[in-house]
Amino acid sequence: MRTARLCVMGSGRGSNYAALAEAIKRGELHACIALVLSDVQDSGILSLARANGHEARFIPPGSKRTVLSPEAEQDFVAAAQNSGADLIVLAGFMRVLKPGFLQHFPRRVINIHPSLLPQFPGLRAWEQALSAGVSETGCTVHLVDEGIDTGPVLAQARVPVLPGDTPETLHKRIQKEEHRILPVAIADYWQKINFS
Ligand code: GRF
Repeated sequence: MRTARLCVMGSGRGSNYAALAEAIKRGELHACIALVLSDVQDSGILSLARANGHEARFIPPGSKRTVLSPEAEQDFVAAAQNSGADLIVLAGFMRVLKPGFLQHFPRRVINIHPSLLPQFPGLRAWEQALSAGVSETGCTVHLVDEGIDTGPVLAQARVPVLPGDTPETLHKRIQKEEHRILPVAIADYWQKINFS
């Protein structure tokens, strides 16, 4: 089976990007990171990617806060297409992608979300879980469709909410599971779309 070329997009620290890079190095994910894109110029994900020798680019997102401007959307599409990416991995990308982006990569955009979807879609899902008083939450890898955190689920992992948890302790516990399931889910999905 051909090695999957990944375009990883993120806005933040980049710990999920790092988990992918490590899984590839360990030989657990037969993929390569063709490109890392960010809408945040000084993001950790871009620094980490450059330190790892991966091509990494900041693309100005435009003036809107939660979505890309139409021009930025086209810049992200062009960069991802030129990288030859088979799969786009949203690893903490904090803008909602619209059909103008998604139509170019049907069933090829994967997201990691810090809750057991369909519970707690949207922002700061670990805080939503704490406020709701649930005893268990987790994380979900899913295909991205036009809704917010609504696409078909590829993998999930459960995490307990413990007495005394703060948003930080809970998010840290969830992220440990994110780092474990994201590479596995990508490997499984790549295999599935190559053999179906
Ligand atoms: C993760 O918690 C992910 O679930 C969410 O954004 C966060 C990104 O973290 N979508 P990092 O930048 O990968 O460390």
